[in-house]
Parts: sequence; C-alpha cells; structure tokens
Amino acid sequence: MAEYQIAVIAGDGIGPEVTREALKVVAAAAEIWGFRVRRTEYPFGTEHYLATKEIFPDAAFSEVKQKDAIYLGAIGDPRVPVGLIEYGIIAKCRFDLDLYVNLRPIKLYDEALCPLKDKKPEHVDMVIVRENTEDAYSGSHGFTHKGHDTEVAVQTMVYTRHGVERVIRYGFELARTRPRKQLTLIDKANAVRAQDLWTRTFDEVSKEYPDVKTDHAYIDAACMWMVKNPEWFDVAVTTNLFGDIITDLGAMVQGGMGIAASGNLNPGKVSLFEPIHGSAPKYAGKNVSSPVAAILAGAMMLDYLGEKPASAAIESVVADLLRSRRLKGVHTGAHNTQEVGDMVVAELRQRAAAKV
Ligand code: IPM
Ligand code: MG
Repeated sequence: MAEYQIAVIAGDGIGPEVTREALKVVAAAAEIWGFRVRRTEYPFGTEHYLATKEIFPDAAFSEVKQKDAIYLGAIGDPRVPVGLIEYGIIAKCRFDLDLYVNLRPIKLYDEALCPLKDKKPEHVDMVIVRENTEDAYSGSHGFTHKGHDTEVAVQTMVYTRHGVERVIRYGFELARTRPRKQLTLIDKANAVRAQDLWTRTFDEVSKEYPDVKTDHAYIDAACMWMVKNPEWFDVAVTTNLFGDIITDLGAMVQGGMGIAASGNLNPGKVSLFEPIHGSAPKYAGKNVSSPVAAILAGAMMLDYLGEKPASAAIESVVADLLRSRRLKGVHTGAHNTQEVGDMVVAELRQRAAAKV
C-alpha cells in the first residue's frame, strides 16, 4: 500500500478549520482508494509565534523537507508586523524548497458562481502558472533616509535565465497535456524592460514545442481579457507578482476565494498545497468559511502524489455538488464549514459503494 508523509501547517485564522475538512476528505479518499496518508502536524503561525517567538525552526524545517508534501491552511494576522509570518513560513518554503511553479487552476464549476454576465463553465477553464521564486518577491529591497522627507525606497524585480526558463518550460509541458494546447505569456515587457528576458526565453523555448499555440498579453490587458473574454485563456505563464494579482482576479471569476486552490511545486520533489485565500481572521473559529478551496488543494496534492483517480473523484464530487446546487455556492450561509466537508466525504463514499 502506497504511503505518503504529509507535513500539515494549518496556520492562522480560518486555516485550521478549512484544513480539518480538507484532510478529512483526503483521509476518506485514502481509505476508498487504498493508500495511506501519514500526517505530521506543525503548530506554526501567528499564535505559535506570539507564544514562543518561534516562526519556523530549522529542526522542523529539516523534517518537513523530508516529507512527500506539505499542506498549508492559511497564514497572516494583523497582530504581527506585515510580512513577518508570510516570509517566515510561505516564502521560506517557496524559496528554500525551490518551489518554482505556483500552479493556480481557474475553473468555473457552475454558471451561477460567476460574477460575469453570460459566462459559463466552458468559458472559464484555465491554469495560471505563476513563477514563484523571483521577481519583486526575491527580498532585495531597502530604504535610505528612513522616516525623513528625503526617504528613498527600492525593491528589485529579479529575473534569472534559469528561473524564467524552467517555469516557461513547465508552462509548455502543461499546455501540451491539455486539449487546446495554448500557452499565453503574460508580462509587462513594454514598461518593465527587464522582462525582455521573458520575451526572448519564451520565443526560444516555444521552438521546442511546435504543437503548442502561443499568445502574449501585457498584464493590464490580460486583466481586461480575463473579465471580458476569459475563454481566450488556456494555460498562461507569468511573473511572481503579476501571477499573485491575476490569480485573485481569476478566483473571483471562478466563484470567489472560497473555491481557488493552488500547488507550489518543485516537480518531483516535496511540494506545498494551499487554498489561495488568506486567513480571514474575523471568521476564525466560526465554522462559516468555505472549505472548498482547501478541499481542492487537497485534491491537487493527491494528484501530485500520483493518486490521480482519488484526486479526480474529489474534484468531480465538488463540481457536481456545486453544479447541482446541493452545495449552495460559498458565503451563502447555507452550510457551515464542517457540513461541506461531510457532504463531500458522503458523496465520495456513496460513489465508491455504487461501483462495487
Ligand atoms: C499568495 C499570497 C502570498 C503572496 C502572500 C501571503 C505573501 O497572496 O499566495 O498569493 O503574495 O504570494
Ligand atoms: Mg495572493
């Protein structure tokens, strides 16, 4: 029986409650499809930091590195300085584990979830491949004359040929596996001239993938197209910061932050899965947040681990529950967090039982 070692960082705010539901679904899938998921839970996040001053100790990090995957709920809390926990946990994993692909599918499961007029599931089915280790996130910034009216602040957008090429290549490989086989490069090379490296690398790598259709959009135009004609996108590859921004827009197009999931990947190595929403401190512990994004992140994790039928079944159950409106959207107050997890588990079990 296949066995996977998972590090779980449920994190802050609503993180623990959505993680609980996601892992409940993962556990049910493991039982049905006959594999084992061994969880090691880590308490890191704001509460732990406030109590111990510890963010992500080296010993724990070395342990986490040995796992097959990491599941992260959500982090961030207004009680601590901006970015402290974000850089100490998420960014640390992204950089130190070299999780260079941030994979963010944007898929509309039911027309009623889309805020755009006349857009149906066939119009919204794309994957954003966000570069995840460079750009404005690389940490190179500083201030001079801090606090004075002569203050200067700089932050450098860093791109390396290696970093750009590997994520573009991932985009091409992914596009090749999809029916439309289309890859759009999203950048702002007309203003951020350093992104000419993206333009040139994309052109060069594209020659190795003659079966993939290529397209290009500047980030500002891409935001417009995402709202006006989301059907134009299949796979899109973009920089870290633009990818961060456009995937929040994408999340709204697919029905909200309660649905959007992501995988931070270093293909073939330990990778991290998380809903893209934040910790929503004001809803913490209230059992009112949608765990759908967290559950779909769990499904992405199973897909990554090689448990493809289990992953596909979870996604299909969530999609059917949304489509049939048994699961009434998110933030509707129709179900609490735990009920949604229970519903997905019950449906998975029922389908499995019907097959035997
Ligand atoms: C995301 C988040 C993070 C990011 C924050 C929490 C640092 O917004 O995963 O999209 O900007 O990457
Ligand atoms: Mg973001």
